[in-house]
Amino acid sequence: MLKDKNIIVGITGGIAAYKTASLVRLFVKAGANVQVIMTPNAREFITPVTLSTLSGKPVISEFFTANTGQWNSHVDLGLWADAMVIAPATASTIAKMANGVADNMLVTTYLSAKAPVFVAPAMDLDMFKHPTTKRNLELLRSYGNHIIEPAAGELASHLIGKGRMEEPEKIFEVLDRFFEKGQDLAGKRVMITAGPTYEKIDPVRFIGNFSSGKMGFALAEECAARGAEITLIAGPVALNTSSPAIHRIDVMSAQQMHDAAISEFATSDVAILCAAVADYTVENALDHKIKREKDEIPVIRLKKNPDIAKAIGEIKKPGQVTIGFALETDNEVENAKGKCQRKNLDFIVLNSLQNKDAGFQVDTNVITIITSDGKALEYPCKPKTEVAKDIVDVLVKDYII
Ligand code: PMT
Repeated sequence: MLKDKNIIVGITGGIAAYKTASLVRLFVKAGANVQVIMTPNAREFITPVTLSTLSGKPVISEFFTANTGQWNSHVDLGLWADAMVIAPATASTIAKMANGVADNMLVTTYLSAKAPVFVAPAMDLDMFKHPTTKRNLELLRSYGNHIIEPAAGELASHLIGKGRMEEPEKIFEVLDRFFEKGQDLAGKRVMITAGPTYEKIDPVRFIGNFSSGKMGFALAEECAARGAEITLIAGPVALNTSSPAIHRIDVMSAQQMHDAAISEFATSDVAILCAAVADYTVENALDHKIKREKDEIPVIRLKKNPDIAKAIGEIKKPGQVTIGFALETDNEVENAKGKCQRKNLDFIVLNSLQNKDAGFQVDTNVITIITSDGKALEYPCKPKTEVAKDIVDVLVKDYII
């Protein structure tokens, strides 16, 4: 997807700069034209000769080329680029970008760039956690930049935490996916619920279900790849996201998922309710561990949880689209149609537990999309990533104005 794309790779002064050599190599191997811009501090971490050799172009660091009377035009570079990637992006460069401080060639080019910008932060964990850095990253997000979240692990300081620049292969993949798709959800905000909810019985036990979150996470990546900004409200799952356009809110219980969803839906164009939400919660939950008493069997009393999809259906405004899921074991189509109507959904995705390749945990799904006017579209068994594409295709074709 990156063949013949013009990519500016910006490198700033952090130890992760050495990894960016591999990123440049990956882009060049994929057929992209790469122009490296280094800040003066970046040159202390990796030599420009390495990067100009890998990219096949002289590295730019300064506004002026010494003794030639020539200057490097940030405006021309900004217009040339199809994408700009800043990796690693130090806290200082992120702060400059957020506040328009154009005191070096890299940040000046960033301000001129019309192309999508991808920022891969790298710094020590405390710098990453600092409220200033958080605010600056939020500002960059709000300007439409794509933040490639750093990974957690051992840092150059030998401390353990979040702040390691994402691996070059992952950064490459983010750009590759970005260009793979038409951006038919550009400018749209999509809220997705995913995974199970856990309802506490006591501090060590809960009522839950088998949802892994795979279907919801695949939908989030698909919508992000097609240009949307995603809020992913996830129950307890062991999954990571890779797209920088996904803003994740982790929750535990149905009530927490409900509260996050209601608040996020106000600014969403689309809601996809893929979570397996517990219909009941524990009325007599305890704040201490239930002991195993000899003859006494504890009684767990249940009360109803809020129905998130229904609540959203009630506050839905014209132009907002809502999509639900139905997980059924019998009388499937009729049950799904009923849920679609009761919850005021635009369409519902039926998956059946009758099929061993569908539903919870597995990497595949078999779905039927049922629209509010009763039409049914059946699909064969596919990986959940492909199923997500089918669902988003219907959304874009028939529901997005
Ligand atoms: O996570 P995976 O392992 O990949 O599995 C995917 C999945 C099987 C969980 C997913 O494809 C799926 O079917 N999700 C919905 C499961 C479900 O709870 O279905 P339901 O028929 O009980 O609910 C109908 C709809 O109402 C769903 O959109 C559900 O999110 C929503 N709901 C239900 C109850 C509730 N209290 N609030 C809700 O919003």
